[in-house]
Amino acid sequence: MKEIRRKGICYGGDYNPEQWPQEVWADDIRLMKMAGVNFVSVAIFSWALLQPSEDEFEFSWLDKIMDMMGEAGIGVDLATPTAAQPAWLSRTYPEILPVSKEGMRYSYGSRQCYCPNSTDWKRAASRIARKVVERYKDHPALVMWHTNNEYTCHVQECYCDNCAAAFRLWLEKRYGSVEGVNRVWGTKFWSQYYYDWMDILPPRKTTAQPNPAHVLDYRRFMNDSVLDLYLMEKKIIEDISPQVEVMTNFMMTWKDLDLFQWAEHVDVVTWNSYPDPDPSYDPSWTAIDHDIMRSLKGGKPFLLMEQAPSQVNWRRVNRAKAPGMMKLYSYQALAHGADGLMFFQWRQSRRGSEKFHSACVTHTGDEHSRVFREVVDLGSDLKMLEDLKDASYPSETAIVLDYENWWALEYENNQSSEVDYLENLRYFYKHFYERHIPVDFVHPLRSDLSRYKMIVVPFLYMLSREAGNRFRDYVKAGGRLVVGCGSGIVDEEEAVFEEGYPGALSGTLGLSVEEFDPLYPGQRVCLSFEGKEGKPDGEGDLWQDRIHTREAETVAWFSEGMMKGAPALTCNKLGKGEAWYMGIRPDKETLARILEGICRDSGIEALMDAPPSLEITCRENEKGRWYFLMNFSEENVCLSLKDKNYINPLTGRPAGAQIGLAPLEGAILLDVQ
Ligand code: GAL
Repeated sequence: MKEIRRKGICYGGDYNPEQWPQEVWADDIRLMKMAGVNFVSVAIFSWALLQPSEDEFEFSWLDKIMDMMGEAGIGVDLATPTAAQPAWLSRTYPEILPVSKEGMRYSYGSRQCYCPNSTDWKRAASRIARKVVERYKDHPALVMWHTNNEYTCHVQECYCDNCAAAFRLWLEKRYGSVEGVNRVWGTKFWSQYYYDWMDILPPRKTTAQPNPAHVLDYRRFMNDSVLDLYLMEKKIIEDISPQVEVMTNFMMTWKDLDLFQWAEHVDVVTWNSYPDPDPSYDPSWTAIDHDIMRSLKGGKPFLLMEQAPSQVNWRRVNRAKAPGMMKLYSYQALAHGADGLMFFQWRQSRRGSEKFHSACVTHTGDEHSRVFREVVDLGSDLKMLEDLKDASYPSETAIVLDYENWWALEYENNQSSEVDYLENLRYFYKHFYERHIPVDFVHPLRSDLSRYKMIVVPFLYMLSREAGNRFRDYVKAGGRLVVGCGSGIVDEEEAVFEEGYPGALSGTLGLSVEEFDPLYPGQRVCLSFEGKEGKPDGEGDLWQDRIHTREAETVAWFSEGMMKGAPALTCNKLGKGEAWYMGIRPDKETLARILEGICRDSGIEALMDAPPSLEITCRENEKGRWYFLMNFSEENVCLSLKDKNYINPLTGRPAGAQIGLAPLEGAILLDVQ
């Protein structure tokens, strides 16, 4: 059983003191105290300084920092520094360096540049990780272990010979024999048949389309290879320091790791969020990321491990966050389930590739900058919000997210390059976001589906029979399942369902799909809710399916084009529930018409009656219901609080009968009843 050493709402950031002379460190602590910092991440990229050569270690500077943090009462999220190996290591063992799909071996000189199947790298990483853990396991400042950093951030896949050998072993474990691989990949086509394990390579750059099942398996294999690196470090940590939480920080929106799988191995989900300050950026894209992160461990609060106090340095144009914006995005993280807000980084670098990335202490180096004042201001809010810790996020609606489906769906030669899984997740999510209806994300196999009144399934192109059975049981027990077009085409082997589309969902939906037709960008097709010949009163885009209903009833029909007169929207009553199928992606208004009806019938309600431009969420715990109201729009918004007697937790005083929010302003209301 692990001890949770994190106190209150975690607040702080990545602290990289090795960039500074020691005189600066004391000033850092003074400024951290001023800002209410209680938690810092240390040593994330410090491997080269901690290990000058193969048999030499140098911990004195880190000892000093740990002691200073301990004395200051600031907890440390201590990293195993494996995210960037020293140059001497890459030079001694050049096979550590990863190889691209085109066969180019990367050179060192940046960071996160290693092959996940390099035994030399693994040996060296285990060694430094063990040294760090053994040295600091009993240090009073230690709060949490942080392994590596943002796995796959810079290299998603390696195609070297070591990976090829490891891939063959992975395939052998999965399929038993070369013949098993041949069967699943369908290699009798295009003369791809393999007779020997050594014939099988990573899907390196080749002439035309690579085999899709091969590509998908390689993605799975890479995910597993990188997960093994995390598990290798986690084991070292748990053998030596079993009571301290272990995690690694995730990225979103990032499809390279199956985060539902990974989340089972971290003690707390943490992630790094970098919304673009540009006005064209939609804040619901960050809201969805938070909701995904919270959902990975079934609704447990997460930590926002990094955000930029102001601008980043890696976009084409790196705008500063306008005054108030950092605080509003910080509220948004809390609003969706964060129990901690951390920054990258504490003090802005003067040299190196991130010198123009913002930091809490800016290049002025003092407490007088606008950015620092905003950091202090947020810190003082967090002191008043300590009771929010551990509050849950009550959702009755969920959206399915399946990373393997994402990989399969976006194979380079599928039916439409216009089908972007993330864009579709965001599209369906936005409907609920604008209506103030809380949403979780679920995995078809790993999540508890029974908690939800409604589950929306966008573009589940690939699904297993087991997932199909789970969805059927969910509906029979009273759930409302809303499946989007293009679903149920292939099984988990990437083979088209023998019984036709939508395969394992067909019985639940009470229909079959004969053919599909992806639409051109911008192309729209009209629908009618009035009948086969009815006048058009809806529209959709992206994709259309030719549906044949069996048990399902038709709710709307295509009223033009090649599907004219065929069902476009169907509903199948099964057991105590309903299974809907949308044979097209409905436009915003049509989607609203469909989902509002289903919400009404399921008793799913909005948190508040408020304009769509306001983002509203709610968390709850024994202290009450914490409502977050966030105005990301450019207009003032005024809201009547009706007969509720909310408390403003930042002042402890009643919130009043109405609330006005200026652009980029947020508010928190506590309902203690
Ligand atoms: C993150 C990374 C940090 C820092 C930051 C800059 O991806 O974990 O180390 O580079 O980006 O935005």
